[in-house]
Amino acid sequence: MEQKKIFMTGDRPTGKLHIGHYVGAIKRRVELQNSGLYDECYVMIADTQALTDYYDNPDKIRESVVEVALDYLSCGVDPDKSVIFVQSRIPELFELTCYFLDLVTLSRLERNPTVKSEMRQKGMEESIPVGFLCYPVSQAADITAFDADTVPAGEDQAPMVEQCQEIVHKFNSLYGETLAMPHLLLPEKDSCKRLPGLDGKAKMSKSLNNCIYLSDDERTVEKKVMTMFTDPTHLTIEDKGHTENNPVFIYLEAFAKDEHFARFYPQYPNLEALERKYREGGLGDVEVKKFLAKVINDVLDPIRKRRHELENDIPAVYKILEEGSLKAREKAMQTLRRVRRALKINYFEDKKLIEKQVKRFRKQHQDEENLRAYLAKQKKN
Ligand code: TRP
Repeated sequence: MEQKKIFMTGDRPTGKLHIGHYVGAIKRRVELQNSGLYDECYVMIADTQALTDYYDNPDKIRESVVEVALDYLSCGVDPDKSVIFVQSRIPELFELTCYFLDLVTLSRLERNPTVKSEMRQKGMEESIPVGFLCYPVSQAADITAFDADTVPAGEDQAPMVEQCQEIVHKFNSLYGETLAMPHLLLPEKDSCKRLPGLDGKAKMSKSLNNCIYLSDDERTVEKKVMTMFTDPTHLTIEDKGHTENNPVFIYLEAFAKDEHFARFYPQYPNLEALERKYREGGLGDVEVKKFLAKVINDVLDPIRKRRHELENDIPAVYKILEEGSLKAREKAMQTLRRVRRALKINYFEDKKLIEKQVKRFRKQHQDEENLRAYLAKQKKN
């Protein structure tokens, strides 16, 4: 099997995307898509996966699909370069999931750290829906159906890619080289791997209500930045401050370029200089936050403008998803043809199989015929 350079990734549509998604995932996808290094790029809106924990609220998923599509397009995911599609429109993914389920044990699924922490967070420990427990298997199908060798995603997706690698290894060793082996491509900067929430909690998350959304307006961004947690020991301006584990500085590391300093904060040439001053004492949080808000708004401004334009042509957005889903389906169908062949369930396209069976039954009939003739002859004698 020739290995093309292919990346595949996606998001659950459970709301609008936030700046954690942007620095952790979307920005990278756009760079990869534009790098010219990839033969094919697939970006999936994982509505079926979203239903594994929002099965009781399909309206939410329905609303969020278009929100996520708008976020993708306004950030620069380009439908001419990347196939943007909807998971539920690709039935081959569910067929592949089914075959993979035979290769995974229950205890392995229960060990997946991301699933474990989600179960805890959602209070699912006592009664976990089987679909939810199995979503890593379905995610392995997402990745392999598109022959992806690269999965650009955040750290929380590492256990999923690992589980996918195990499935690929098992499949290929049982049935012959069929599936491409994927690897995870993490964000380059540590600050981008997992952007903390405004409240300093480990993760920016809609359910924790600690996010800045890509679609937030300028004023909202300013207000939210002003509420951010900083260094709890930095009580007065004169106090020496801590920059590590300080959300304001983590955000600056993720977003601020030297050019932002030149434009908005010329007292400091770059982030190191600002950090040095903060640690020395004499620099107030409000001043740093004002700068951070300007930086974030500078990054979000073109994204917001594009989003606004796209919002005026929603039918075109749906059209992109529909066409992308058709293209994605074609690719998945090709992979499934290979998979069915490997699993020996390609009954109707294998001429040799039919010929072989024809011969087998012909021989069986012939043998029976011969035996009957022999016995008849014996009887006569
Ligand atoms: N699990 C991802 C999320 O929670 C979404 C997802 C589904 C995904 N299938 C994928 C990501 C395949 C990367 C590759 O957002």
